[in-house]
Amino acid sequence: MSKALLTVSDLCVDFETEHGVLNVLDHVSFNLYPGKTLGLVGESGCGKSVTSLALMKLLQKPYGCIRAGSILFKGQDLVQCDAKQMQDLRGNRIAMIFQDPMTALNPVKTIGSQIVEVFNLHRQELTKKERYQCALEMLRKVGISDAQFRMAEFPHQLSGGMRQRVMIAIALSCEPDILIADEPTTALDVTIQAQILDLMQDLQKENGMAMLFITHDLGVIAELCDDVAVMYAGRVIEKASVIDLFSQAKHPYTKGLLDSIPQLFNDGKGALKTIEGQVPSLLNMPTGCRFRNRCQYSQQDCKSLDHNLDTHSENHQINCKHWREIKDA
Ligand SMILES: Nc1ncnc2c1ncn2[C@@H]1O[C@H](COP(=O)(O)OP(=O)(O)O)[C@@H](O)[C@H]1O
Ligand SMILES: [Mg+2]
Repeated sequence: MSKALLTVSDLCVDFETEHGVLNVLDHVSFNLYPGKTLGLVGESGCGKSVTSLALMKLLQKPYGCIRAGSILFKGQDLVQCDAKQMQDLRGNRIAMIFQDPMTALNPVKTIGSQIVEVFNLHRQELTKKERYQCALEMLRKVGISDAQFRMAEFPHQLSGGMRQRVMIAIALSCEPDILIADEPTTALDVTIQAQILDLMQDLQKENGMAMLFITHDLGVIAELCDDVAVMYAGRVIEKASVIDLFSQAKHPYTKGLLDSIPQLFNDGKGALKTIEGQVPSLLNMPTGCRFRNRCQYSQQDCKSLDHNLDTHSENHQINCKHWREIKDA
């Protein structure tokens, strides 16, 4: 495998609340590679968005802070970077798109002026006219028809799918090395979702950027990603290539997630499988394995599991003491 572009190691994030300090991320580690997509999957509240905000250093101080760990990007540790250095990197080398483009776009500025703004910041050598032309080109590239007309419109005049395309155009205008996408298609209907995913894949092929794609949807992971990190209650509990994850998941939680996907042909047998119990509260996290209270294979020694991952193969690791003993159903 080629050299990692971004290496996240043992990232720990705490939030200070009136109820106490919450360990929202516990030793999260993963790599991003040029031209490859890592999927970050897990149920709501497991820490996916906090991970992306931590990478961009956008956690709201003083409540959220990176307690430990490093984020190496081209030899530079982002955790140590000051606000000015981060501002230069954000939207330039590392870009991000969010679930809800309406909150990320400025409602009182035209689409065109919001894309031109990126070129104003990052391509100052261009003339005003050239910047407008670049913005127009970007809008065409993300599949917006009648681009010239749309340039003069405001966000509320566009459909949800078009707004998300505009967000992608803005994010990619500076040709970032890394694109972080936090549930960018969750609010869209499935046909628009498929178009947006195709578009992202095409653009990635063109410019070779690394992608971190955050979702709770395993179908999207299967469609788009090369590798997957599964999160549970602030920890990465399994990492594998997409093929390995879908064909030979090892962690009981990942197995449960895969079992809970509706099957088209189950001969009408049985109800949809669910994972019993609930994700533990961050205020009341069990010691050791964070999944043990819901796990049918849980044993006494699970109380002493730390964050470390056990290696199944070079590209497949699991945070579970007993994965070897669990037989496939
Ligand atoms: N500003 C905050 N203050 C306190 N807790 C927070 C804050 N933001 C997020 N959290 C907590 O961090 C955990 C992870 O949240 P998040 O990363 O948004 O989850 P998701 O995986 O759904 O994106 C949740 O339990 C959430 O309650
Ligand atoms: Mg989220």
